[in-house]
Amino acid sequence: MKIIGFIASPRNEGNTAWTVNKILEGAKEQGAETQSWYSSDLDIKPCQSCYGCKQGDQGCIINDDMQKLYDAIEHADALVLGSPVYMGQMSAQAKIFTDRLFARFSPRFSPYFKEENAAQKKLILVFTQGNPDPGLFQLYFDYTKNIFQLLEFDVKEVQVVAGMRNEPAQERKDLHTVMKDIGSSLVSEQFPE
Ligand SMILES: Cc1cc2nc3c(=O)[nH]c(=O)nc-3n(C[C@H](O)[C@H](O)[C@H](O)COP(=O)(O)O)c2cc1C
Repeated sequence: MKIIGFIASPRNEGNTAWTVNKILEGAKEQGAETQSWYSSDLDIKPCQSCYGCKQGDQGCIINDDMQKLYDAIEHADALVLGSPVYMGQMSAQAKIFTDRLFARFSPRFSPYFKEENAAQKKLILVFTQGNPDPGLFQLYFDYTKNIFQLLEFDVKEVQVVAGMRNEPAQERKDLHTVMKDIGSSLVSEQFPE
């Protein structure tokens, strides 16, 4: 099983990176092949609304690092998408990435979307936030989950890591096992309903 993580935070050593990587660590221990991608190391331009991805079979025509991610997603069984909460929403980096997924509906990726029984890619959404109340932005998280379901992902979990204002994620001992368990569930498919 191949699982990729996309960390949509400017801080490569921040809470979001730590959380996504802990989930991947749990998956790796169960035999998954994992890889992390950091938005701050990549040049990913916003969607230009050119609809080039809908013409022909070349996919998105913007020649930037998102091309590497399209390939990585295409060959992965699951994606762990992590974003800090900025102003009650996903980061700009995460939004740019999400908009660029528009091109996944292009003929280039059609086998995943046209064959009725094609396996959907699994998705774990991870949000980290300063506010200690994990339910504060619940409406937004539910809405975002719905958008990714419309993008044909099998959303297994929306994990909200709250209270990062005073204590960074790696110092929260309780989070270590929780995150690793999510990663191992991704491999074993034993998610609580
Ligand atoms: C521009 C900006 C906006 C933020 N907005 C919110 C917010 O609306 N609610 C919240 O709880 N935390 C907010 N935060 C705090 C971050 O979500 C939190 O520190 C997060 O864990 C940072 O992730 P990182 O360590 O991966 O960068 C904001 C931080 C920044 C820099």
